[in-house]
Amino acid sequence: MAQSSSIESVLQEQRVFPPSAEFAQQARISSMAAYQALYDKAAADPAAFWAELAEQELDWFKKWDTVLDWQPPFAKWFVGGQLNISYNCLDRHLTTWRRNKAALIWEGEPGDSRTLTYAQLHREVCQMANVLKSLGVQKGDRVGLYMPMIPEAAIAMLACARIGAPHTVIFGGFSAEALRDRLNDAEAKVVITADGGFRKDKAVALKPAVDQALEDDSVPSVQHVLVVKRTGAEVDWSEGRDVWWHEVQPTVSANCPAEPMDSEDMLFILYTSGTTGKPKGVVHTTGGYNLYTHLTFKWTFDIQDTDVYWCTADVGWITGHSYIVYGPLSNGATSLMYEGAPRPSNPGCFWDVVEKYGVSLFYTAPTAIRAFIKMGDQLPQARDLSSLRILGTVGEPINPEAWMWYHRVIGGGRCPIVDTWWQTETGGFMLTPLPGATPTKPGSATKPFPGIQADIVDSEGNPVGDNEGGYLVVRHPWPSMMRTVYGDDDRFRRTYWEHIPPKDGQYLYFAGDGARKDKDGYFWVMGRTDDVLNVSGHRLGTMEIESALVSHPAVAEAAVVGRKDEVKGEDVYAFVTLEGTYSPSDDLKAELKQHVVNEIGAIARPGEIQFTDALPKTRSGKIIRRFLRNLASGEAVVGDATTMEDQSVLEKLRQGA
Ligand code: WTA
Repeated sequence: MAQSSSIESVLQEQRVFPPSAEFAQQARISSMAAYQALYDKAAADPAAFWAELAEQELDWFKKWDTVLDWQPPFAKWFVGGQLNISYNCLDRHLTTWRRNKAALIWEGEPGDSRTLTYAQLHREVCQMANVLKSLGVQKGDRVGLYMPMIPEAAIAMLACARIGAPHTVIFGGFSAEALRDRLNDAEAKVVITADGGFRKDKAVALKPAVDQALEDDSVPSVQHVLVVKRTGAEVDWSEGRDVWWHEVQPTVSANCPAEPMDSEDMLFILYTSGTTGKPKGVVHTTGGYNLYTHLTFKWTFDIQDTDVYWCTADVGWITGHSYIVYGPLSNGATSLMYEGAPRPSNPGCFWDVVEKYGVSLFYTAPTAIRAFIKMGDQLPQARDLSSLRILGTVGEPINPEAWMWYHRVIGGGRCPIVDTWWQTETGGFMLTPLPGATPTKPGSATKPFPGIQADIVDSEGNPVGDNEGGYLVVRHPWPSMMRTVYGDDDRFRRTYWEHIPPKDGQYLYFAGDGARKDKDGYFWVMGRTDDVLNVSGHRLGTMEIESALVSHPAVAEAAVVGRKDEVKGEDVYAFVTLEGTYSPSDDLKAELKQHVVNEIGAIARPGEIQFTDALPKTRSGKIIRRFLRNLASGEAVVGDATTMEDQSVLEKLRQGA
């Protein structure tokens, strides 16, 4: 396994934390025997398992004819069935007592707040759906969202789902360039945005990036921009194109029946970084996604009606889609949205929010946990966190010591931690503890969710032994798996299903992560095996950052690798060769860093840029990133250098030239 040897596991974690008897007793799934029974049932007959749950957990307008149509690598779930996820998230709760339960609790960074009951949320979603219709959006048309963390972000997603217009949410931290590419790829007809949002004590503008992305008719598909007023900042206005939400909202009806959607109708596209070229539009469809996010949320967070659930992700990522909006609301849960981020004026703001609303289920990322550790125990200890019941983590492997801190300082030693491994592509949790059943081990995402057949294999697809590193794969289709790369079936096939060559018609889903399984069948995810960085839990394609650098006139060639970073997990480290007339300088470094921010967004800003005369390449011209990774982290360059075109390049790089 040459390729994954660089991520050989060094973790020797032995600690085990079973759920307390008290917790297990009240939990929905309360023992490993119960988990195993579900797992075995699903493995024996996946179609029957999922059909039974689809019937029990969701409302369908029309029942399906076929549970699973699997023509590798293309899966269709609940074929012939009709439903609407916005109906399942809203309407069906309105005939119960949950009508007046808080659906969304929203806390703005400046301290303003809003609570929307299910009835109120339904009303606003219907209004936005009607506004979209009045702007010419029809079933099947794509709508781009570029939003701050305000209730209207969730409202817009649900409104799109309600009328069958797939949304594509573009993270508000992305630049105008990134926004333009994604809107063009999706051929969005309408963009929903806001004047801006509040973050770290500043009003951050959004509308100007939309204006810039659309300037000179560079996204010809876009006809209208619907703008939510949040910060009150002055905005440029394109008459005829731009529409204020607060002006049109009162003019439309609050009644908009949910469109019956085929189970396999597209629900959304979400762009994610790939190893090569442009971002991939990950396509998710309706029925399978609704079922799987509903069920994984229900069992993994053991949701009760008294819970207040808070996921700190942004709706621009899959975590926000599946576990702020769709999974929680489908369950009739109370989902909290927070606009802000820890900042110098209030580093303990997260714990203020937990205390203020009595948050019981808290879901965040290892990068945030590491940042909290640095800020010290006194911030959380100054707040009453006794309402917390379950803690979750997602985005990257969590270091065992960070896990221990989370457990001890935030969880008071009593809250089970659910370390959920999954991806944009998988739609929902794949490996995760069930909090009342699974004994947890710090740093392990533990076991597959029932219905998921995960394994570790070598590059030929052969299972490896206990504790041997290999590729994390999934053997059988699952309801919320991505259906394709938008507009590129071939890329979907190549990237995910042929990376490990199919044998005898058996296809393995390739996640791009390295992992090992211990003797108890616990999975330990080690990180990406491809050229994708994980910066603060967000996937960044090295290709995209390199392309951004090369688009600067001074840059001839660029190679980007990850360097370990205490808080962010990985930091962007760029090697750059310059065009003849330019010479290295600190000013140029700063300029290039800013250039990446302009092209992609602040999350992609290189922490370090090293100028060099040449990059190490194979004879076929491929950059040897392995060496660059070693160099970036100050390690000795290891591995076979014989395939290198010019051996002197490495020596020069070592000397920092
Ligand atoms: C990483 C986020 C270890 C992994 C939901 C995966 C994790 C990528 C975990 C997906 C975890 C996510 N333990 N690694 N619990 N969760 N990852 O698409 O490398 O933004 O492939 O989805 O994050 O990132 P994505």
